[in-house]
Amino acid sequence: MAQPASGSPTLSSTKPSSVISIDDMASFCKRKGFVYPSGEIYGGLAGFFDYGHLGVEVMNNIKQEWWTTFVRSREDVVGIDGSIVTNPNVWKASGHVDCFEDIMLECEKCHHRVRGDHLLEDKLKIAADGLSRDAITKLVKDNKIPCPACKGQLGEGRQFNLMFKTNVGPVETEHSTAYLRPETAQLIFANFRLVTEHARLKLPFGIAQIGKAYRNEISPRDFLFRCREFELMEIEYFVHPDKTNDCPFIKDILGCELLVYSSVMQQQKKDAQAMTIKEALEHNIIKTSWHAYWIVQSHQWFVSLGAKPENFRIRQHLPTEKSHYALDTWDLEYHFPFGWKELQGMANRTDFDLRQHMKHSQADLSLFDEETSTKVVPHVIAEPAQGVGRAFLVFLFDAYTYSKEREYIVLKLHPKLAPVKVSVLPLVNKVQDKAREVFALLKGEFACTFDKSGAIGRRYARNDEIGTPYCVTIDFETLEKNDATIRDRDTAEQKRVPIAKLALTLHQLLHGHCTLKDI
Ligand code: GAP
Repeated sequence: MAQPASGSPTLSSTKPSSVISIDDMASFCKRKGFVYPSGEIYGGLAGFFDYGHLGVEVMNNIKQEWWTTFVRSREDVVGIDGSIVTNPNVWKASGHVDCFEDIMLECEKCHHRVRGDHLLEDKLKIAADGLSRDAITKLVKDNKIPCPACKGQLGEGRQFNLMFKTNVGPVETEHSTAYLRPETAQLIFANFRLVTEHARLKLPFGIAQIGKAYRNEISPRDFLFRCREFELMEIEYFVHPDKTNDCPFIKDILGCELLVYSSVMQQQKKDAQAMTIKEALEHNIIKTSWHAYWIVQSHQWFVSLGAKPENFRIRQHLPTEKSHYALDTWDLEYHFPFGWKELQGMANRTDFDLRQHMKHSQADLSLFDEETSTKVVPHVIAEPAQGVGRAFLVFLFDAYTYSKEREYIVLKLHPKLAPVKVSVLPLVNKVQDKAREVFALLKGEFACTFDKSGAIGRRYARNDEIGTPYCVTIDFETLEKNDATIRDRDTAEQKRVPIAKLALTLHQLLHGHCTLKDI
């Protein structure tokens, strides 16, 4: 095989971050009722998934935590919920109609289609994102890479636009074409004028959105990692164009340490380096304090919800890889079992989008700067944008633990993300009425289940496997003493607590205000 083209950095190690593969995770999620292939009774559809009850609960918890952290708890961020189909001129102005493309290779024999950069990454272990159509075609030819399905010859690379087209209205004409949104960001830009006026926002400020996005991926793969329908959580953070380096919160995060993989380190084939934000800014590796701030916020959010810090790094996009709108982009990456991969993109989009929409719509999207009495077009200094499905995978991988003593999986999800917080278990049939009373007491307070079937050990196991932090067991002693046993998922420790104090104690445990030991 020929050597990869010079200048294409090699991908770093693919040491598994978890004991299980992505396929095993997909099987686990299906077996336990988190996620299913969509329309499975008809054979499914590649790149589409349906969430079962437990999956919806976890997804909702992730979205709620994100919204609470980045919108509700902040003075400077407000939310919107734009529509999935909008005026197609939005996508013409943003560049998606012309530029949102990947390079596709088609087998001349079996017509199997594959995404060019992914094929090169798999076969040559190089970072190929952003390589041109000609470069991809040449590398495939030079390295004699065959069709992954039938080993036939692959044809020339072709541009493939990822936008899903649809038709609006009863008659299909050249003017009725619209698109399912490939990102939520553009609705933020298109609504910029109205949102800033109604929320009376002054720079710097952010506008956030959570919602579905659609991309007609050439080869969806790795379960929820790359699908055709997924949910995004995005913030566009706008700053004054002359104040991109004036983050007032920077001093609080200068000491934070991250594993940093700059574009220079990648080009020089060096390893990622642990460094503080102070060092990264002093060495001009991260260019602005605002960009650094948002990188740290995103990382800290994951860690605060139980993700393992050692599984994260930040990687700067190579000049060849950056999107058409980005001045500088950093990805928060996670060490998936199939290698370091993008979890969240954080692009400095400058004023590209607002200016594009001003040009195409003729609307004035500038803001009045009271200090200088001039109009300014704000810059998006960072756009923390992440898929909810990828976050879901991260939290599940880091929670997934095989217990040797118990000989089954314990899903050590953070209590805030756990789909069921408490399960009430009557030890024997004769205490069922009392257990129902306790269940009625708790179910208004927490996501709570009542589980009476099977041996108690089996019921603990069932709950441990889906991540229920606490089980409450009702036995004969409960009838005499009016108390119940709380069992901790992670330690299997048990404590008796008066029923009168049960809800309060569970609240304290679930919010991390105490542990069972303290009771
Ligand atoms: N507005 C910017 C934007 O959309 P992006 O890097 O294209 O940026 C943001 O996407 C995030 O969306 C990614 O970091 C990833 O978490 C998620 N994402 C992108 N494509 C995806 C796909 N096909 N399936 C699942 N998640 C995806």
